Amino acid sequence: MLSGKVALVTGGSRGIGAAIARKFASMGANVAVIYAGNQQAAEDVCGQCREYGVEAKAYRCNVADFGEVKDTVAAVKADFGTVHILVNNAGITRDGLIPMMKEEAFDAVLDTNLKGAFNMIRHCAGLFLRGREGCIINISSVSGLMGNAGQCNYAASKAGLIGLTKSVAKELAPKGIRCNAIAPGFIRTDMTGTQENNPLLAMIPLGTMGEAEDVAQAAAYLATAKYVTGEVLRVDGGIAM
Ligand code: NAI
Repeated sequence: MLSGKVALVTGGSRGIGAAIARKFASMGANVAVIYAGNQQAAEDVCGQCREYGVEAKAYRCNVADFGEVKDTVAAVKADFGTVHILVNNAGITRDGLIPMMKEEAFDAVLDTNLKGAFNMIRHCAGLFLRGREGCIINISSVSGLMGNAGQCNYAASKAGLIGLTKSVAKELAPKGIRCNAIAPGFIRTDMTGTQENNPLLAMIPLGTMGEAEDVAQAAAYLATAKYVTGEVLRVDGGIAM
């Protein structure tokens, strides 16, 4: 379904990003796995992707750095020819209550989660425009839809991603480029850790945490849904209903 396409996935070395990289590879896409620090984990994900008979390569890049992103997109273009699908998945949390939150914690989260997505879209846009084809998927969060006490920085970054998604979708739709967001709820990854006793679980209508593969399935849908743009797809067991 995605054979011949090139997918770039940020934060692809673990968790939701790794699941999306593997899913796209299973659909026939070649995959550029962008990682922040753990080269071995990124190489392992590339190896798992290659088992589907596609090409995969890992690139170290801090998505918050405008210049590094520019160089990385150029390197991906040199290796793969272009990018068709961009998944802005890299994200961090630095939770804290507002009276105690350090300026650095606010800036770091906004720089990675929101500006990181802008940086990638900014530098991939030329490739999309030249090919008159492109699909952008931004990984937001239900925190961005509902807000969450103790996460003012994270929720602001994830709400910002939704504004970014809709603006890019409107701007680039006439050029055949789509942009959508996914808002995951409570997904079992390194970011959420061991949460079996978290009281939030009782608020999930479907009763359990989600898996990274549940988000990857939504990404696969958005990658192939040619008439869907500007959408925010919740994958949250109903928590933000
Ligand atoms: P994770 O912590 O397991 O993975 C995040 C990935 O982003 C890691 O590979 C990390 O190295 C990478 N990353 C962080 N900063 C980076 C930077 N500056 N440059 C490049 N890469 C960087 O987290 P998880 O759970 O897989 O989350 C993936 C995305 O899904 C994040 O954007 C997160 O906010 C979002 N999300 C996760 C939820 C969950 O319950 N796990 C719920 C809602 C949204």
